[in-house]
Amino acid sequence: MRVRVPATSANLGPGFDTLGMAFNLYNMVEMDFRPSGLVIEVEGLGKEFIPTNETNIVYQSAMRVFKLAGVEVPGLYMKLVNEIPLARGLGSSAAAIVGGVVAANCLCGGVLGVDALLQIATDVEGHPDNVAPALLGGFTIAGMENGKVRSVRLDPLSGLKAVVAVPEFSLSTHKSRGVLPANVSMQDAVFNVSRTAFLVAALCLGHVELLSMAMEDRLHQPYRCSLVPGMEQVWQAAKDAGAMSAALSGAGPCLLAFAMQNTAKIGQAMQATFAQNGVQAEILVLSPDRAGAMVV
Ligand code: HSE
Repeated sequence: MRVRVPATSANLGPGFDTLGMAFNLYNMVEMDFRPSGLVIEVEGLGKEFIPTNETNIVYQSAMRVFKLAGVEVPGLYMKLVNEIPLARGLGSSAAAIVGGVVAANCLCGGVLGVDALLQIATDVEGHPDNVAPALLGGFTIAGMENGKVRSVRLDPLSGLKAVVAVPEFSLSTHKSRGVLPANVSMQDAVFNVSRTAFLVAALCLGHVELLSMAMEDRLHQPYRCSLVPGMEQVWQAAKDAGAMSAALSGAGPCLLAFAMQNTAKIGQAMQATFAQNGVQAEILVLSPDRAGAMVV
């Protein structure tokens, strides 16, 4: 049995740890019981960095499901085929976790519902903004209430494309969270509340003229700027080439620009501007994924 899980971009500018969107770039998780032992095969991006023992995050996530479902696991076979670049801000760890929980749940006959799977995935990841769109697809709002994850899945604007510049270097979420302040000012908090509310309206109701302002942020991007050389120049180049808005994708270092057209020109501008700042980057033009994790 195989599960396909989409890449995701979290935050989308102001919606720190809250908003996320799924895109049509996928990791595959194949899983089956075997008589004994653990066998993990890995193909695709980042293969050399992915452990093939009990520390593997797909395996650990799957085991949480088996435990909750009360299912004895004699042995397990997993094959992971990854298209999502590792540690770049496109939700590779969320895809691994969601792939593990969905595949394990299928092997148990689907005993756990989607809310339970989202809770397990969030507990493993530590925040819900990547795992929610990876599981549910589309554009998601997710947050915590007394330790329980709450989420809403929305359909993203029709015709929306994301031009994503993927730098050659990786950046761990841990390092990228490490530069954030413990406290922010009331002014900056209000700034982000307004942008986040406008962003949800812009993406759901089609107010594209609001997108540029609605993706501004003061909670995390200004602090992460030093970790991604040329970040603001690349955003400006994307907008000058016709993008509606731009942001850091998740914790970075990928940069994402939303557009309806001119995607090739926007990609070239982002790549050239990154290069001027000494960063080689690959360009992906992605569309929102509406299905989320699915058995294929
Ligand atoms: N919201 C998270 C962050 C996403 O920006 O740190 C990365 O996993």
